[in-house]
Amino acid sequence: MRKRPLGKTTLQVSELALGTWGLSGDGYGPMVEAEIDRVIDRALAVGIDLFDTADVYGRGEMERRLGKRLQGAGPAFVVTKIGTDLEGLPPRKRFDPAHLRTAFERSQERLARDVVDVVLLHNPTMAAMRSKESLAFLRDLKQAGKIRAFGVSAGSADVARSALRDEVDVIEIAYNAFLPGDLHEVAGDVSESGAAVLARSVLAHGLLAGQWSADREFFSFDHRAERWTREEFKLRIRQLDVLRPLVTGPVVSLRAAALRFVLANQLVSSAVLGPRSVAQLDQLVREAGMPPYLGDTALTELSARLRSAGITT
Ligand SMILES: NC(=O)c1ccc[n+]([C@@H]2O[C@H](COP(=O)([O-])OP(=O)(O)OC[C@H]3O[C@@H](n4cnc5c(N)ncnc54)[C@H](OP(=O)(O)O)[C@@H]3O)[C@@H](O)[C@H]2O)c1
Repeated sequence: MRKRPLGKTTLQVSELALGTWGLSGDGYGPMVEAEIDRVIDRALAVGIDLFDTADVYGRGEMERRLGKRLQGAGPAFVVTKIGTDLEGLPPRKRFDPAHLRTAFERSQERLARDVVDVVLLHNPTMAAMRSKESLAFLRDLKQAGKIRAFGVSAGSADVARSALRDEVDVIEIAYNAFLPGDLHEVAGDVSESGAAVLARSVLAHGLLAGQWSADREFFSFDHRAERWTREEFKLRIRQLDVLRPLVTGPVVSLRAAALRFVLANQLVSSAVLGPRSVAQLDQLVREAGMPPYLGDTALTELSARLRSAGITT
């Protein structure tokens, strides 16, 4: 497993990370409990040492499980996210320091760590970013030695840019071949600030694995049931043709092409994978292959094809 610097921190992390939203049973539907542990153990066995989670995943259960599973497992870095108050109904986003302090202390306890490696604000709005108090709170935690690095999981280029200008250590952002634009928009700010980029949703929630038919249905508890209208979904499936020319030589599948697209970007410290089984994790690790992930010509040609298919690059 190759490593990359986590931006301007002193940490070196595996360039593939294990994301745990899908494993928590939220988002994609229930998981068999034993498989969750098997995926975590397998990730460690193949050399993944970066684990992405959030206090809301499984209402804290995912943090608790990671806390247990990673104990004594050798070096393993955890990124967690806070900023959702689950106590009221409906749950609401909260980035005030009072809430963040309680949330952090609970995460710290569930993860069973005195020092948490990375803490991110979980999808803050621009209004929350403008108030500055949430990042000031995380900066204080870092100065107090309770966390190693801090940042923002950003739902838009504007939020990411604001975080980068506030000199965060890490941003997490959706980045994949069908959604390259947000990271590309802030690439200059990333370079200038030296912040780490954790790229999530590398497979566009599974779409880019290229295994779905245009009439695929999702269960109602699966977030993908609401993500695309039927027409958008059919268009997305057709747009996969844009990626097919990448599948050649060591790039053995659309899934490989999608993952290599992300790894080819040197601004990315780690690609946060979302496997829901050991088989899926093994496929991803195997198909990531090794550098050069995609050649410059292939990337330039891909950009032109994406633009002609109406995808903002
Ligand atoms: N706001 C945030 O901070 C935020 C938001 C989203 C995600 N994340 C983090 O990023 C992680 C990954 O996000 P994501 O779920 O959007 O990732 P993703 O990799 O784009 O999608 C994951 C889905 O892809 C499919 N898949 C995974 N491995 C596969 C394989 N080998 N072959 C075929 N299909 C495969 C699975 O669905 P099926 O098998 O059911 O098709 C899986 O549920 C999350 O776990 C979480 O840690 C953070």
